[in-house]
Amino acid sequence: MGSQDLRAGAAATAARRGQTSRTTRAAISERTLRSDNWRKEPLITAAILGFFVIYTVIRLFMNADYFAVKENYLTPVYSPCISASCVEGSSDFGHWLPTFPVGIPLAILVFPILAGFRTTCYYYRKAGYRSLWMSPQACAVREPHAKYTGETRFPLVLMNSHRYFFVLASILLLVNFYDAVKAFHGKDGGFGIGLGTLLMLVNVVMLALYSLSCHACRHIVGGRLKHFSKHPVRYRLWTWVSRLNPKHGNFAMVSLFTVILTDFYIMAISLGWFSDLRFIN
Ligand code: FES
Repeated sequence: MGSQDLRAGAAATAARRGQTSRTTRAAISERTLRSDNWRKEPLITAAILGFFVIYTVIRLFMNADYFAVKENYLTPVYSPCISASCVEGSSDFGHWLPTFPVGIPLAILVFPILAGFRTTCYYYRKAGYRSLWMSPQACAVREPHAKYTGETRFPLVLMNSHRYFFVLASILLLVNFYDAVKAFHGKDGGFGIGLGTLLMLVNVVMLALYSLSCHACRHIVGGRLKHFSKHPVRYRLWTWVSRLNPKHGNFAMVSLFTVILTDFYIMAISLGWFSDLRFIN
């Protein structure tokens, strides 16, 4: 192909693009020409997110059954517990907050960080926009919204706070690691392992993979550099994070379930529904 042909092709492409930007939508009466079951994925996602929101709200306002005393298990939903209202043994980081009146969740500081981190996460944004906000619902499907302003205006502009939530959530992750180590606790006070210990360990590993594969994490370790060759350590970290990053959506969903499962198990143990399954001591 000669250079003239190439120029003609480029001009035709530019003309086509110009046409597309002027025309908002092809003149068809159907909502979409897609014939596949495109509603299925957003519906499943909406059901999962809805379940998680309802479960978490109930657990937050229970303000109880978050610490299994004998086993030393503290649920990640309440950790760190820093109010003077927290039950004895659950506040290794001290009482930064006074006694709470009835009805105020003990996780009043922790939960907004966890919720903010997940809500502003790129993966959950995609999931939420498709399944709850319905903008856009799916590729090649007309939106129910008349106008699209993206994330440039309130409230969606707040999504840009994700990098700050990443830093705060990373601090909580360190606390979760501490809780998991503390859960290697035997009934006679020495070393021990129960099913709760393993659940807490798996949960914290999944949370770590979720955080390390985060887009903000990738930018923090490898972003704003002109020459990787001058920053070999950051380059090496960036390649590790980049390997995890494509699986971020999987880590996001799996860690959501491990948090709920761990919390539910600890609640059941502390309520006496059943005893912790012990493997060692
Ligand atoms: S993009 Fe999902 S946690 Fe950062």
